[in-house]
Amino acid sequence: MSEMLEIEDLVTGYGKQEIVHGISLSAARSRVTCIFGPNGSGKSTVIKAIAGALPVWSGSIRLDGRDITGLRVHQVVREGIVLMPQGGGVFPKLTVEENLRMGGYSLRDGRQVERRVDELIGEFQNLGRRRHVAAGSLSGGEQMMVAIARALVPEPRFVLLDEPSAGLSPAMVHDTIARVQTLRDRGVGVVMVEQNIREALPLADHVYVLAGGHRQFSGSPEEIRDDAKLMSLYMGG
Ligand SMILES: Nc1ncnc2c1ncn2[C@@H]1O[C@H](COP(=O)(O)OP(=O)(O)OP(=O)(O)O)[C@@H](O)[C@H]1O
Ligand SMILES: [Mg+2]
Repeated sequence: MSEMLEIEDLVTGYGKQEIVHGISLSAARSRVTCIFGPNGSGKSTVIKAIAGALPVWSGSIRLDGRDITGLRVHQVVREGIVLMPQGGGVFPKLTVEENLRMGGYSLRDGRQVERRVDELIGEFQNLGRRRHVAAGSLSGGEQMMVAIARALVPEPRFVLLDEPSAGLSPAMVHDTIARVQTLRDRGVGVVMVEQNIREALPLADHVYVLAGGHRQFSGSPEEIRDDAKLMSLYMGG
């Protein structure tokens, strides 16, 4: 059986307000699973709960059949699941290199962190030249690359990407999508929230659509394209 991330009947929210009312979804390694839906539909809330950044009120999260419900962020990272939050969440005053090191905070071996930082700086070539520059002085697209590279430091089995292409120029959107493809090809499971459906859909192996904290659709990209009502209701035509 391939490695699976399985979310069942997830209920969560903020304070006393329930936002996600029992959502089930699953994702596999070497696959891109996309989550679409209108603003405020609970997309970020779902993936924050998977990452351990929000408490799970009820329901379960399993990785390869093992229950990982209720783990904290650093424990979830050790299980091999890393979140890239909406907006990237880079630390503007830290350098590129320091930002990448932050991605290794849950690793116990400092040398391993340094090795991964070097590898990723070699791989994300634009970052190499900016290694010692404050991340806040980079363009939006470059900051997103820092955020993606940082998420890859602990060599995750699953990455949760919350709108990696938001606010980027068309060329950068393209680069970001290509990067996601590379991750998938290397065996990483990608769970991606995207507004940029046109760019994301060709890459998706499976699609979920959320609305109002409920799952409205689960199926293949082909099925969603054929569903005119769904497309016009939730996907902007
Ligand atoms: N920190 C928070 N505290 C209280 N309510 C929140 C918080 N974050 C989000 N919400 C509420 O939860 C609901 C779902 O928000 P969420 O961020 O999950 O939506 P989303 O689908 O990711 O939207 P977007 O496409 O705009 O990013 C919204 O009604 C939002 O106002
Ligand atoms: Mg969001």
